[in-house]
Amino acid sequence: MKPTDELVIREAVSRDIEGIIEVFKAVRLQDESWARSAVQRLLATPNYIMFVAELDGMIVGYIDYYVLPSIWEKWNEATINYLFIHKDYQRRGIGSKLLEEVVRQADKEGIVELHVATEKGNEQAIRLYKKHGFLKEHVLLERVREPVPQPSKNY
Ligand SMILES: CC(C)(COP(=O)(O)OP(=O)(O)OC[C@H]1O[C@@H](n2cnc3c(N)ncnc32)[C@H](O)[C@@H]1OP(=O)(O)O)[C@@H](O)C(=O)NCCC(=O)NCCS
Repeated sequence: MKPTDELVIREAVSRDIEGIIEVFKAVRLQDESWARSAVQRLLATPNYIMFVAELDGMIVGYIDYYVLPSIWEKWNEATINYLFIHKDYQRRGIGSKLLEEVVRQADKEGIVELHVATEKGNEQAIRLYKKHGFLKEHVLLERVREPVPQPSKNY
């Protein structure tokens, strides 16, 4: 980053949707209007929080997580849903800053367990999470329904 570049990490609001969609478009986006409506619905979901990274006014990445009460323990647990940095802005510490913000918020809210999942081969994400203290390993199994129903139910 140039010395003049100003990185701001802040909670996302609905007027950020277009900026968030632009970040996705730099990689791949199956259906832009679905994505727009999905972000809208997520932002309106209780106990769901998204932070964006804004560099000189442009959204270059985001992280989102949700909080649920544990039934077994007297505490709430949080799960990071996704972390994504625009491909032209990766490897500049922005992913770390977003992750640190979630860890800070989770600590502030008294969250004891903070989970995150990623694909087994995603070495860069695994290194990033481990570097930030995500050390306990679990196994996440996934069943993909075939054929994929179209359109999927709108939650
Ligand atoms: C994974 C991702 C979020 C990392 O964000 P980033 O802003 O590039 O990460 P940072 O610059 O903060 O790097 C922090 C650490 O992550 C690891 N890392 C990041 N990119 C890496 C790469 N290409 N190769 C190896 N390690 C990498 C390193 O440990 C790095 O620390 P270091 O620079 O001291 O070695 C980003 O590459 C991305 O958005 N990837 C596509 C989406 C994705 O896979 N998301 C995670 C799935 S939930």
